Amino acid sequence: MELYLDTSDLKIIEELWPILPLSGITTNPSIVACGGLPLGELLPKIRALVGPEATLFAQVLARTSEAMIDEALRLRELDPKLVVKIPALPAGIGAIKALSARGIATLGTAIFAPMQGLLAAQAGARYVAPYVTSVDANGGDGLELVRNLQRMLDLHCPSCSILAASFRTPVQVMECLLAGAKAVTVSPDTARQMLVSPAAEAAIERFEAAWSKSFGKLSV
Ligand code: E4P
Repeated sequence: MELYLDTSDLKIIEELWPILPLSGITTNPSIVACGGLPLGELLPKIRALVGPEATLFAQVLARTSEAMIDEALRLRELDPKLVVKIPALPAGIGAIKALSARGIATLGTAIFAPMQGLLAAQAGARYVAPYVTSVDANGGDGLELVRNLQRMLDLHCPSCSILAASFRTPVQVMECLLAGAKAVTVSPDTARQMLVSPAAEAAIERFEAAWSKSFGKLSV
């Protein structure tokens, strides 16, 4: 499976990259806008922190297929290994189709329905990103979407992977992975929830107390 951190915060990347088994960094326009650094400055800085093997993702803003393709090509000049996020709206599906014919890796983003995801996949997207919590917030069932989409990809388009997004809790992440999603991206908050375990901390503190009592110092 592939785990990604959904952030443009360089300090957070510096802190969590050495700890988490991350495959790369995802961003979206809100996240980039919030950080204040334009992609031309941000992407090289992230690349410098995560190294040449990591996969980075950034999204186009254009609304027509042609303009999306132009933006995708410009983004790839900033980072030649970038996976370009394209909204899976009608114009976006067209852009995915054209970009994949040119060998450019894309992710169909803002997936709210299984057929929308399958179309983006069939058009050539390497990944499709269902928004789990946002689907729930719009009266749907985000996990059910992931389950159905994964079944359809398995049956009809196994070259495309789900990169599930929009999580608030580690349990949602676990459910998506159990449904077969090959990749997930989590916010720094959700990543920290995944890392923290008060019960594990308490168990280690009990070992330390026992050790200190017998040997005085805390080392082997
Ligand atoms: C996905 O591409 C987005 O970065 C993100 O996960 C959107 O979801 P959120 O705004 O609900 O976190």
